[in-house]
Amino acid sequence: MIVRKTPSELEKMRRSGLLVHEILHSLAAMVTEGLPTWDLEVAAVKMMEDAGAKPAFKNYFVAAAGERYRFVLCTSVNDEIVHGMPSTKRILRKGDIVSIDTGVSLNGYFGDSALTVAVGEISDQAKRLMRVTEESLELAIDKVREGNRLFDICGTVEDHVVSNGFSIVREYVGHGIGTQLHEEPQVPNYVDRRNENPRLREGMVLAIEPMVNAGRPEAKVLKDKWTAVAKDGSYSAHFEHCVAVTSNGPWVLTRP
Ligand code: MF3
Ligand code: CO
Repeated sequence: MIVRKTPSELEKMRRSGLLVHEILHSLAAMVTEGLPTWDLEVAAVKMMEDAGAKPAFKNYFVAAAGERYRFVLCTSVNDEIVHGMPSTKRILRKGDIVSIDTGVSLNGYFGDSALTVAVGEISDQAKRLMRVTEESLELAIDKVREGNRLFDICGTVEDHVVSNGFSIVREYVGHGIGTQLHEEPQVPNYVDRRNENPRLREGMVLAIEPMVNAGRPEAKVLKDKWTAVAKDGSYSAHFEHCVAVTSNGPWVLTRP
């Protein structure tokens, strides 16, 4: 069942969405050569505490890992797709791209967003990967309209990525969001005809999060049980927003 939110619930999700936006943009501004990804985690913990928000990811149980996640951020560098863990040993270097993904809950309502940032000068291919991934999210956001269907979103991401020669990661997908971080429906970045294709209705909120590899689509998980990387070692980019269906069209809760 897809839970639809009332206008007052959407206002609560808006507050957590804007906080996630502020945190992500402060973290993005910190990204520089020589920075350990751990420093991003420390800064995020402080911002969440100051705002009286609960981190959405820390202690979140993920069945595939068989344990709870231990950080408030995922920091996924280069070939890492998602669930990269902040570490004092992971120092950002010129030419890297780093995805920063975080979520919070405020008054029981969740926000979740991600962006990918360049560290210094990066290759033209990495630039294009980031651009195409972000564009695919923007094109999909524009499909979040009453009367459209879920596959309109999935297919829009897929078409843009594939037509630009990149690959959609299939193992990880977007999701509904509300009083839980992950609600129905799953929002794959490709049309999965095994799934239902519900019509979008006012009050639904979707976390759309394209994960795109420059090379082959296949992912594998490292021995740490969390870090998902591109099997072929190619770069991977990730952008995410929470988007509500309203009578006025798409409402991106995770940006001003
Ligand atoms: N944005 C990702 C998601 O919505 C990150 C989740 S990290 C986790 O699935 F550890 F909390 F699972
Ligand atoms: Co998400």
